[in-house]
Amino acid sequence: MDKLLIVANLKSYKSENEAKEWLENFIKIKESGQNLENKEIIICPSFTLLSLFSSYVSNNSLPVKIGAQNVSPFDEGAYTGEVNAKQIKDFAEFVLIGHSERRNNFGETDELLSKKVEVSLKYGLKPIFLVQASNNLIPQGVEIVAYEPIFAIGTNTPDTPENAEKEAASIKTRNNYQVLYGGSVTSKNVAGFTRTENIKGVLVGGASLDSQEFIKIIQNA
Ligand code: PGA
Repeated sequence: MDKLLIVANLKSYKSENEAKEWLENFIKIKESGQNLENKEIIICPSFTLLSLFSSYVSNNSLPVKIGAQNVSPFDEGAYTGEVNAKQIKDFAEFVLIGHSERRNNFGETDELLSKKVEVSLKYGLKPIFLVQASNNLIPQGVEIVAYEPIFAIGTNTPDTPENAEKEAASIKTRNNYQVLYGGSVTSKNVAGFTRTENIKGVLVGGASLDSQEFIKIIQNA
C-alpha cells in the first residue's frame, strides 16, 4: 500500500533564521511518539533554504524528505536566474510542478509544465504534479498528482471531503496516480480527507508555516 504523503509547501516564506526556528520546533516530532511507518513527510522550502533543510534532516535523522517548489524547464546552461533539476537533486527528492500560484502569477502553460516534468524525471526528481481540475493535462511519467481547487487555496474554505474524493477517484482512474488533496488543510479537517478511499495524502500550505500545527496535521492524518 502507498504511504500517506503529507507535504508542507512553505511557499515564499521563511528567512534563514525563521527556517531554523521552524526546524528546531519541528524536531519535537521525534519525541511525539507518533507512528510514522505509514506516512511519508515531505517539506518543500524555498530554493535558498534547501541546503539548510536537507543538512538538518540528515544530521538529526528526521523522518522527512525534501522537495523543491519549482524547477527550471531547461537543463543546465545559460539561463540566468534559473535553478535546474540537476542542482536541485543534490538536496531534494521531490519537486512541486503546476501549482496554481505559478500557473496564474507566472503564466506557466501546459507546455512549460511538461518540460519541467521531463527534465525533473531525467535527473531522478519525483514530480508532485498539481491540477486544479480532474481533467487538467498531466504529463507523462508523473505518478503523484495533487488536486487543488483554486477556491480552496489559502482561503480557509476547503473543498468538502466528498467532492475532493470524487475528483480524486476520477484523477486516479486516468492512470492509477497517487492522488493528494490540497487547499486550506488544517489539523482539524485533515482526517476528513485522508480517511477517504482515493485520497492518499495532503498538500498543506498556510497551516504548515507553523511547525507545531504541521506536527498536529501529521498526527491527525
Ligand atoms: P493552503 O495552500 O494550504 O494555504 O490553502 C495550499 C497549497 O499551497 O498548495
